[in-house]
Amino acid sequence: MVTARPDSCFLAACRNEPHDVTPVWFMRQAGRSLPEYREVRGEGSINDAIANPDLATEITMQPIRRYGVDAAILYSDIVTPAHAIGFGLDVVPGIGPVVEEPFRSSDDLHRLRPLDPEADTPYVLETIDNLVAELDIPLIGFAGAPFTVASYLVEGAPSRTYHNTKVMMKARPDLWFALTDRLADLAIASLQSQVDHGAEAIQLFDSWAGSLSAADYEKYAMPSSAKVLEAIEATGVPRIHFGVGTGELLGLMADAGADVVGVDWRIPLAEARTRVPEGTALQGNLDPAILGAPWEVVEREVDAVLDSNGGHPGHIFNLGHGVTPTTEPEKLEKVVERVHQFRA
Ligand code: CP3
Repeated sequence: MVTARPDSCFLAACRNEPHDVTPVWFMRQAGRSLPEYREVRGEGSINDAIANPDLATEITMQPIRRYGVDAAILYSDIVTPAHAIGFGLDVVPGIGPVVEEPFRSSDDLHRLRPLDPEADTPYVLETIDNLVAELDIPLIGFAGAPFTVASYLVEGAPSRTYHNTKVMMKARPDLWFALTDRLADLAIASLQSQVDHGAEAIQLFDSWAGSLSAADYEKYAMPSSAKVLEAIEATGVPRIHFGVGTGELLGLMADAGADVVGVDWRIPLAEARTRVPEGTALQGNLDPAILGAPWEVVEREVDAVLDSNGGHPGHIFNLGHGVTPTTEPEKLEKVVERVHQFRA
Protein backbone atom coordinates (compact mmCIF):
# COMPACT_ATOMS: atom_id res chain seq x y z
CA MET A 1 0.00 0.00 0.00
CA VAL A 2 1.46 3.35 -1.04
CA THR A 3 0.81 6.10 1.50
CA ALA A 4 -1.48 8.84 0.24
CA ARG A 5 0.87 11.39 1.76
CA PRO A 6 4.45 10.22 1.18
CA ASP A 7 5.86 13.08 3.29
CA SER A 8 3.96 12.14 6.47
CA CYS A 9 6.23 10.74 9.20
CA PHE A 10 3.07 9.69 11.04
CA LEU A 11 1.76 7.51 8.20
CA ALA A 12 5.25 6.09 7.57
CA ALA A 13 5.59 5.09 11.24
CA CYS A 14 2.11 3.50 11.19
CA ARG A 15 3.39 1.31 8.37
CA ASN A 16 6.73 0.58 9.98
CA GLU A 17 8.53 2.38 7.15
CA PRO A 18 11.71 4.43 7.68
CA HIS A 19 11.34 8.22 8.05
CA ASP A 20 13.32 11.18 9.41
CA VAL A 21 11.65 12.24 12.65
CA THR A 22 9.60 10.41 15.25
CA PRO A 23 5.96 11.47 14.80
CA VAL A 24 4.04 12.74 17.80
CA TRP A 25 0.43 13.61 18.66
CA PHE A 26 -1.52 13.50 21.91
CA MET A 27 -4.72 11.72 22.81
CA ARG A 28 -7.24 14.38 23.92
CA GLN A 29 -5.05 17.09 22.42
CA ALA A 30 -8.23 18.86 21.29
CA GLY A 31 -9.89 20.56 24.21
CA ARG A 32 -9.53 20.16 27.95
CA SER A 33 -6.24 21.84 28.82
CA LEU A 34 -6.25 24.55 26.12
CA PRO A 35 -7.42 28.03 27.21
CA GLU A 36 -8.49 28.77 23.63
CA TYR A 37 -10.71 25.66 23.82
CA ARG A 38 -12.43 26.83 26.98
CA GLU A 39 -12.91 30.21 25.33
CA VAL A 40 -14.80 28.90 22.27
CA ARG A 41 -16.39 25.79 23.81
CA GLY A 42 -19.21 27.56 25.69
CA GLU A 43 -21.49 25.92 28.24
CA GLY A 44 -23.78 22.99 27.56
CA SER A 45 -23.29 19.52 26.23
CA ILE A 46 -20.25 18.56 24.18
CA ASN A 47 -22.79 16.95 21.83
CA ASP A 48 -23.85 20.47 20.78
CA ALA A 49 -20.25 21.51 20.13
CA ILE A 50 -19.66 18.38 18.04
CA ALA A 51 -22.84 19.12 16.05
CA ASN A 52 -21.44 22.53 15.05
CA PRO A 53 -18.97 21.91 12.18
CA ASP A 54 -17.33 25.36 12.29
CA LEU A 55 -16.72 25.03 16.02
CA ALA A 56 -15.58 21.40 15.81
CA THR A 57 -13.19 22.32 12.98
CA GLU A 58 -11.72 25.18 15.01
CA ILE A 59 -11.28 22.97 18.11
CA THR A 60 -9.57 20.24 16.07
CA MET A 61 -7.19 22.86 14.60
CA GLN A 62 -6.25 24.56 17.89
CA PRO A 63 -3.65 21.97 19.03
CA ILE A 64 -2.24 21.75 15.49
CA ARG A 65 -1.45 25.46 15.48
CA ARG A 66 -0.05 25.45 18.98
CA TYR A 67 1.96 22.24 19.21
CA GLY A 68 3.14 21.34 15.72
CA VAL A 69 1.99 17.74 16.14
CA ASP A 70 2.13 15.32 13.20
CA ALA A 71 -1.53 14.26 13.15
CA ALA A 72 -4.89 15.82 13.94
CA ILE A 73 -7.65 13.97 15.78
CA LEU A 74 -11.24 14.76 14.98
CA TYR A 75 -13.13 16.60 17.71
CA SER A 76 -16.01 14.22 18.40
CA ASP A 77 -16.68 11.50 20.97
CA ILE A 78 -16.91 7.71 21.12
CA VAL A 79 -20.59 7.93 22.08
CA THR A 80 -21.52 10.26 19.17
CA PRO A 81 -23.01 7.47 16.95
CA ALA A 82 -25.14 6.06 19.82
CA HIS A 83 -26.28 9.58 20.66
CA ALA A 84 -27.07 10.30 17.00
CA ILE A 85 -29.39 7.29 16.65
CA GLY A 86 -31.28 8.42 19.73
CA PHE A 87 -30.11 5.97 22.38
CA GLY A 88 -30.63 8.70 24.95
CA LEU A 89 -27.33 9.75 26.42
CA ASP A 90 -25.53 12.90 27.41
CA VAL A 91 -21.89 13.69 28.11
CA VAL A 92 -21.70 15.49 31.42
CA PRO A 93 -18.70 17.80 31.91
CA GLY A 94 -16.29 16.38 34.48
CA ILE A 95 -18.09 13.02 34.50
CA GLY A 96 -18.43 11.62 30.98
CA PRO A 97 -21.21 9.75 29.15
CA VAL A 98 -24.39 9.24 31.16
CA VAL A 99 -27.34 7.17 29.92
CA GLU A 100 -30.85 7.90 31.11
CA GLU A 101 -32.13 4.33 30.64
CA PRO A 102 -29.22 1.88 30.63
CA PHE A 103 -29.16 -1.15 28.35
CA ARG A 104 -30.52 -4.04 30.43
CA SER A 105 -32.47 -6.57 28.30
CA SER A 106 -33.25 -7.72 24.77
CA ASP A 107 -36.07 -5.14 24.76
CA ASP A 108 -33.30 -2.52 24.52
CA LEU A 109 -31.78 -3.89 21.31
CA HIS A 110 -34.24 -1.98 19.10
CA ARG A 111 -32.79 1.27 20.55
CA LEU A 112 -29.60 0.49 18.57
CA ARG A 113 -30.74 0.79 14.98
CA PRO A 114 -28.12 0.98 12.20
CA LEU A 115 -26.27 4.28 11.70
CA ASP A 116 -26.68 6.13 8.41
CA PRO A 117 -23.72 8.52 8.75
CA GLU A 118 -24.80 10.95 6.00
CA ALA A 119 -28.27 11.33 7.54
CA ASP A 120 -27.51 10.83 11.26
CA THR A 121 -24.14 12.57 11.64
CA PRO A 122 -23.88 14.99 8.68
CA TYR A 123 -22.12 17.49 10.99
CA VAL A 124 -19.24 15.03 11.62
CA LEU A 125 -18.74 14.59 7.89
CA GLU A 126 -18.92 18.34 7.25
CA THR A 127 -16.28 18.86 9.95
CA ILE A 128 -14.05 16.30 8.23
CA ASP A 129 -14.59 17.98 4.85
CA ASN A 130 -13.52 21.31 6.39
CA LEU A 131 -10.48 19.76 8.06
CA VAL A 132 -9.22 17.89 5.03
CA ALA A 133 -9.29 21.17 3.09
CA GLU A 134 -7.39 22.99 5.84
CA LEU A 135 -4.86 20.46 7.17
CA ASP A 136 -1.45 19.66 5.76
CA ILE A 137 -1.07 16.67 8.10
CA PRO A 138 -3.22 13.50 8.29
CA LEU A 139 -6.54 13.50 10.14
CA ILE A 140 -7.20 10.55 12.46
CA GLY A 141 -10.81 9.40 12.55
CA PHE A 142 -12.00 7.24 15.43
CA ALA A 143 -14.67 5.12 17.05
CA GLY A 144 -15.21 3.48 20.41
CA ALA A 145 -14.68 -0.27 20.52
CA PRO A 146 -17.84 -2.26 21.28
CA PHE A 147 -16.69 -3.32 24.78
CA THR A 148 -15.93 0.22 25.93
CA VAL A 149 -19.09 1.76 24.42
CA ALA A 150 -21.15 -1.12 25.83
CA SER A 151 -19.73 -0.41 29.28
CA TYR A 152 -21.26 3.09 29.15
CA LEU A 153 -24.61 1.88 27.80
CA VAL A 154 -24.90 -0.94 30.32
CA GLU A 155 -23.57 0.87 33.40
CA GLY A 156 -25.41 4.09 32.58
CA ALA A 157 -22.45 6.12 33.83
CA PRO A 158 -18.66 5.89 34.01
CA SER A 159 -17.69 2.94 36.21
CA ARG A 160 -14.62 1.72 38.02
CA THR A 161 -15.72 -1.90 38.31
CA TYR A 162 -17.75 -2.61 35.13
CA HIS A 163 -19.87 -4.78 37.38
CA ASN A 164 -23.08 -4.81 35.30
CA THR A 165 -21.14 -5.16 32.06
CA LYS A 166 -19.24 -8.21 33.29
CA VAL A 167 -22.38 -9.79 34.73
CA MET A 168 -24.19 -9.39 31.38
CA MET A 169 -21.18 -10.79 29.50
CA LYS A 170 -21.07 -13.97 31.56
CA ALA A 171 -24.72 -14.48 32.51
CA ARG A 172 -26.32 -13.39 29.22
CA PRO A 173 -23.74 -14.07 26.50
CA ASP A 174 -26.49 -14.14 23.84
CA LEU A 175 -27.58 -10.62 24.77
CA TRP A 176 -23.98 -9.45 25.17
CA PHE A 177 -22.98 -10.64 21.70
CA ALA A 178 -26.14 -9.15 20.15
CA LEU A 179 -25.30 -5.81 21.82
CA THR A 180 -21.63 -5.75 20.85
CA ASP A 181 -22.43 -6.88 17.31
CA ARG A 182 -24.72 -3.86 16.88
CA LEU A 183 -22.07 -1.60 18.36
CA ALA A 184 -19.53 -3.07 15.93
CA ASP A 185 -21.86 -2.17 13.04
CA LEU A 186 -22.21 1.39 14.38
CA ALA A 187 -18.42 1.72 14.58
CA ILE A 188 -17.93 0.28 11.08
CA ALA A 189 -20.48 2.63 9.50
CA SER A 190 -19.01 5.63 11.30
CA LEU A 191 -15.37 4.80 10.53
CA GLN A 192 -16.11 3.96 6.90
CA SER A 193 -17.80 7.34 6.42
CA GLN A 194 -14.92 9.16 8.13
CA VAL A 195 -12.42 7.48 5.80
CA ASP A 196 -14.65 8.16 2.76
CA HIS A 197 -14.50 11.85 3.69
CA GLY A 198 -10.72 11.88 3.99
CA ALA A 199 -9.55 10.57 7.39
CA GLU A 200 -6.14 9.04 6.66
CA ALA A 201 -5.89 6.78 9.72
CA ILE A 202 -8.36 5.49 12.28
CA GLN A 203 -8.09 4.73 15.99
CA LEU A 204 -10.33 2.23 17.75
CA PHE A 205 -10.57 3.31 21.41
CA ASP A 206 -11.08 0.33 23.73
CA SER A 207 -10.11 2.46 26.71
CA TRP A 208 -11.49 0.13 29.39
CA ALA A 209 -10.54 -3.27 27.87
CA GLY A 210 -7.76 -3.50 30.47
CA SER A 211 -10.40 -4.33 33.07
CA LEU A 212 -10.70 -7.80 31.48
CA SER A 213 -8.47 -10.85 31.82
CA ALA A 214 -6.84 -11.98 28.59
CA ALA A 215 -9.17 -15.00 28.43
CA ASP A 216 -12.30 -12.86 28.87
CA TYR A 217 -11.02 -10.24 26.44
CA GLU A 218 -10.43 -12.91 23.83
CA LYS A 219 -13.88 -14.44 24.29
CA TYR A 220 -16.11 -11.43 24.92
CA ALA A 221 -14.47 -8.28 23.51
CA MET A 222 -12.05 -9.25 20.78
CA PRO A 223 -14.58 -10.73 18.28
CA SER A 224 -16.56 -7.51 17.86
CA SER A 225 -13.40 -5.36 17.73
CA ALA A 226 -11.90 -7.72 15.15
CA LYS A 227 -15.08 -7.35 13.10
CA VAL A 228 -14.57 -3.56 13.07
CA LEU A 229 -10.86 -3.65 12.29
CA GLU A 230 -11.26 -6.29 9.58
CA ALA A 231 -14.04 -4.29 7.90
CA ILE A 232 -11.83 -1.20 7.79
CA GLU A 233 -8.83 -3.11 6.41
CA ALA A 234 -10.29 -2.80 2.90
CA THR A 235 -9.98 1.00 3.05
CA GLY A 236 -6.19 0.67 3.29
CA VAL A 237 -5.79 3.29 6.04
CA PRO A 238 -3.69 2.38 9.11
CA ARG A 239 -5.67 1.10 12.08
CA ILE A 240 -4.55 2.05 15.61
CA HIS A 241 -5.95 -0.04 18.47
CA PHE A 242 -5.74 1.50 21.95
CA GLY A 243 -6.64 0.66 25.53
CA VAL A 244 -5.45 1.45 29.06
CA GLY A 245 -3.93 -1.20 31.35
CA THR A 246 -3.72 -3.61 28.42
CA GLY A 247 -0.18 -4.95 28.94
CA GLU A 248 -1.51 -8.51 29.03
CA LEU A 249 -3.74 -7.91 25.97
CA LEU A 250 -1.31 -6.33 23.51
CA GLY A 251 -0.82 -9.49 21.43
CA LEU A 252 -4.56 -10.08 21.18
CA MET A 253 -5.20 -6.42 20.33
CA ALA A 254 -2.70 -6.73 17.47
CA ASP A 255 -4.25 -10.01 16.32
CA ALA A 256 -7.68 -8.33 16.25
CA GLY A 257 -6.41 -6.57 13.12
CA ALA A 258 -4.29 -3.57 14.13
CA ASP A 259 -1.41 -1.97 12.28
CA VAL A 260 -0.51 0.04 15.39
CA VAL A 261 -1.10 -0.92 19.03
CA GLY A 262 -1.37 1.75 21.73
CA VAL A 263 0.66 1.14 24.89
CA ASP A 264 0.09 2.83 28.25
CA TRP A 265 2.88 3.69 30.70
CA ARG A 266 2.74 0.44 32.67
CA ILE A 267 5.18 -1.43 30.45
CA PRO A 268 8.18 -0.11 28.51
CA LEU A 269 8.00 -0.02 24.72
CA ALA A 270 10.88 -2.50 24.44
CA GLU A 271 8.82 -5.02 26.43
CA ALA A 272 5.61 -4.17 24.52
CA ARG A 273 7.39 -4.93 21.26
CA THR A 274 8.06 -8.50 22.38
CA ARG A 275 4.30 -8.97 22.93
CA VAL A 276 3.07 -8.05 19.43
CA PRO A 277 3.77 -9.71 16.07
CA GLU A 278 6.75 -8.38 14.13
CA GLY A 279 5.71 -5.54 11.85
CA THR A 280 3.19 -4.10 14.32
CA ALA A 281 3.92 -0.45 15.12
CA LEU A 282 3.54 0.92 18.67
CA GLN A 283 2.04 4.18 19.90
CA GLY A 284 2.85 5.66 23.31
CA ASN A 285 3.71 5.78 26.11
CA LEU A 286 4.57 8.75 28.36
CA ASP A 287 2.59 8.77 31.62
CA PRO A 288 0.32 11.85 31.34
CA ALA A 289 0.77 12.51 35.08
CA ILE A 290 4.49 13.21 34.49
CA LEU A 291 3.55 16.38 32.60
CA GLY A 292 2.85 17.97 35.99
CA ALA A 293 6.55 17.75 36.90
CA PRO A 294 9.22 20.40 36.15
CA TRP A 295 10.50 20.33 32.55
CA GLU A 296 13.83 18.64 33.43
CA VAL A 297 11.87 15.66 34.77
CA VAL A 298 9.53 15.54 31.79
CA GLU A 299 12.50 15.71 29.42
CA ARG A 300 14.17 12.75 31.13
CA GLU A 301 10.97 10.71 30.85
CA VAL A 302 10.46 11.63 27.19
CA ASP A 303 14.00 10.48 26.46
CA ALA A 304 13.38 7.23 28.34
CA VAL A 305 10.39 6.49 26.09
CA LEU A 306 12.44 7.22 22.97
CA ASP A 307 15.37 5.14 24.25
CA SER A 308 13.10 2.22 25.01
CA ASN A 309 11.88 2.31 21.42
CA GLY A 310 15.51 1.90 20.36
CA GLY A 311 15.24 3.64 16.99
CA HIS A 312 12.56 1.30 15.65
CA PRO A 313 10.73 2.92 12.67
CA GLY A 314 7.32 1.75 13.90
CA HIS A 315 6.89 4.20 16.77
CA ILE A 316 4.42 7.05 17.17
CA PHE A 317 5.14 9.08 20.28
CA ASN A 318 2.04 9.75 22.41
CA LEU A 319 0.92 9.71 26.01
CA GLY A 320 -0.17 6.44 27.61
CA HIS A 321 -3.66 7.99 27.92
CA GLY A 322 -5.25 11.39 27.33
CA VAL A 323 -3.96 14.85 28.23
CA THR A 324 -5.32 15.76 31.67
CA PRO A 325 -7.18 19.07 32.14
CA THR A 326 -4.45 20.66 34.32
CA THR A 327 -1.60 20.07 31.84
CA GLU A 328 0.22 23.28 30.87
CA PRO A 329 0.16 23.62 27.07
CA GLU A 330 3.78 24.87 27.18
CA LYS A 331 4.90 21.43 28.41
CA LEU A 332 3.29 19.69 25.46
CA GLU A 333 4.88 22.20 23.11
CA LYS A 334 8.30 21.29 24.53
CA VAL A 335 7.58 17.57 24.33
CA VAL A 336 6.90 17.90 20.60
CA GLU A 337 10.13 19.85 20.14
CA ARG A 338 12.12 17.26 22.09
CA VAL A 339 10.67 14.29 20.20
CA HIS A 340 11.35 15.96 16.86
CA GLN A 341 14.97 16.72 17.84
CA PHE A 342 15.67 13.18 18.91
CA ARG A 343 18.00 11.08 16.80
CA ALA A 344 18.36 7.44 17.76
O1 CP3 B 1 -8.68 15.52 21.47
C1 CP3 B 1 -9.21 14.42 21.22
O2 CP3 B 1 -8.78 13.34 21.65
C2 CP3 B 1 -10.38 14.40 20.25
C3 CP3 B 1 -11.67 14.36 20.77
C4 CP3 B 1 -12.12 13.25 21.69
C5 CP3 B 1 -13.04 13.50 22.75
N1 CP3 B 1 -13.37 12.29 23.30
C6 CP3 B 1 -13.57 14.82 23.11
C7 CP3 B 1 -14.00 15.03 24.51
C8 CP3 B 1 -11.86 11.87 21.68
C9 CP3 B 1 -10.93 11.07 20.77
C10 CP3 B 1 -12.66 11.28 22.69
C11 CP3 B 1 -12.71 9.82 22.92
C12 CP3 B 1 -13.34 9.33 24.16
N2 CP3 B 1 -14.47 9.77 24.77
C13 CP3 B 1 -12.88 8.21 24.87
C14 CP3 B 1 -11.68 7.38 24.50
C15 CP3 B 1 -10.40 8.05 24.84
C16 CP3 B 1 -9.99 8.00 26.27
O3 CP3 B 1 -9.65 9.05 26.77
O4 CP3 B 1 -9.96 6.91 26.84
C17 CP3 B 1 -13.72 8.01 25.97
C18 CP3 B 1 -13.60 6.95 27.03
C19 CP3 B 1 -14.75 9.00 25.88
C20 CP3 B 1 -15.92 9.20 26.77
C21 CP3 B 1 -15.79 10.53 27.44
N3 CP3 B 1 -16.17 11.73 26.86
C22 CP3 B 1 -15.19 10.82 28.69
C23 CP3 B 1 -14.65 9.79 29.67
C24 CP3 B 1 -15.21 12.22 28.85
C25 CP3 B 1 -14.58 13.01 29.97
C26 CP3 B 1 -15.45 13.74 30.87
C27 CP3 B 1 -14.65 14.91 31.46
O5 CP3 B 1 -15.11 16.04 31.32
O6 CP3 B 1 -13.59 14.66 32.04
C28 CP3 B 1 -15.83 12.77 27.71
C29 CP3 B 1 -16.04 14.20 27.43
C30 CP3 B 1 -15.10 14.78 26.44
N4 CP3 B 1 -14.89 14.25 25.20
C31 CP3 B 1 -14.33 15.98 26.57
C32 CP3 B 1 -13.66 16.15 25.34
C33 CP3 B 1 -12.76 17.28 24.94
C34 CP3 B 1 -14.23 16.92 27.80
C35 CP3 B 1 -15.48 17.58 28.22
C36 CP3 B 1 -16.04 18.73 27.39
O7 CP3 B 1 -15.32 19.58 26.83
O8 CP3 B 1 -17.28 18.76 27.33
